[in-house]
Amino acid sequence: MSQNNPFSLSFGKKPQSTINRATNESEIIDNFQSENPAYQVCMITGVRGSGKTVSMTTIANRFKNRDNWIVVDLNPEVDMIHALAVELSNHSMLIQIFKDAKINLSFLGLGVELKGTPPITDISVALDRMLEHLTKINKKILVTIDEVSNNKSVRTFTSQFQIYMRKNYSVFLIMTGLYGRIFELQNDKTHTFLYRAPKLELKPLNLGLIAESYKRYLGVTNDEANEMAKLTLGYPFAYQVLGYLCFEKKMSYTDVIPEFDFYLEELVYEKIWSEISTKDKSVLRGMCNTENTKVEAIRSAIDMDSNNFTVYRKRLLKKGLIRDIEYGHLTFALPRFKEFIQRQIF
Ligand SMILES: Nc1ncnc2c1ncn2[C@@H]1O[C@H](COP(=O)(O)OP(=O)(O)O)[C@@H](O)[C@H]1O
Ligand SMILES: [Mg+2]
Repeated sequence: MSQNNPFSLSFGKKPQSTINRATNESEIIDNFQSENPAYQVCMITGVRGSGKTVSMTTIANRFKNRDNWIVVDLNPEVDMIHALAVELSNHSMLIQIFKDAKINLSFLGLGVELKGTPPITDISVALDRMLEHLTKINKKILVTIDEVSNNKSVRTFTSQFQIYMRKNYSVFLIMTGLYGRIFELQNDKTHTFLYRAPKLELKPLNLGLIAESYKRYLGVTNDEANEMAKLTLGYPFAYQVLGYLCFEKKMSYTDVIPEFDFYLEELVYEKIWSEISTKDKSVLRGMCNTENTKVEAIRSAIDMDSNNFTVYRKRLLKKGLIRDIEYGHLTFALPRFKEFIQRQIF
């Protein structure tokens, strides 16, 4: 066993102990680097703690340090056209390239004065010129945006991005976001192109790999590692919390469950609960109130007709809060979420 805890409680950062999601990630990587990419935009959705940021970072890291790729991470809360122009014009690999191409960005405060070339005075024109030139010299630009919502800066940027794609620029975009936000964004009438963009819904991590990792880092038996993996339901944040606590406390997993619950509740479940609608909550409560996982049993527990139920069921599935284990049966997707709901009064 190593000295430092290999598990981590922090979000958005690649942990030391990572479970491979190779298939999902390599599909996007292979597509982006193929001669004729089937898509240039994709979105990663999943519940909080499902690993969206880590997945996107893993993909982005595969393109960084490659000669013909420029990777830029943008903050969805600021003017992203401006931010991208600034990033590209300041990129150490590109300063000389833009100079040689006589793209004069000095008026915008983005580059040095170029004699004999009039400066560009509009930021979108500048960005367009940079992208056009980068495409011409075979450089590809990957933009990543974490946690998008349907706000003005995201809408402006994605509409502009659509134009770059139409012009055949070598631009690629990955966005992450909660299902509801991605859904709103792609339903915005200016964003029909996002409708066709693939959405990667993050699935649970492989339980066998989780068990292997617990055995390796915690020295637990096969049986215990399997039980622990089952307890996490493959939910990445739960995998980290359970490993972290067992490592830190040197206790068996059954003894850390109260603390496991505490971390899940404090860091994720309270937030999730505060963001779901009353109707969604009543479906989830219905699932708590019956041991039976059958749709009919849940429906009758909350007295909801079949058509209505179908709408909520679909939404909760998309949000990653429930799973259909087999036809007509539903269970919770997040570990100990049922116990959490049972503690909620409102
Ligand atoms: N592939 C993975 N293997 C193991 N742990 C992971 C993996 N992806 C994410 N995690 C862990 O899950 C938690 C949430 O990851 P993060 O990417 O921040 O989720 P999101 O962005 O969906 O909220 C973090 O603690 C992170 O360490
Ligand atoms: Mg995140």
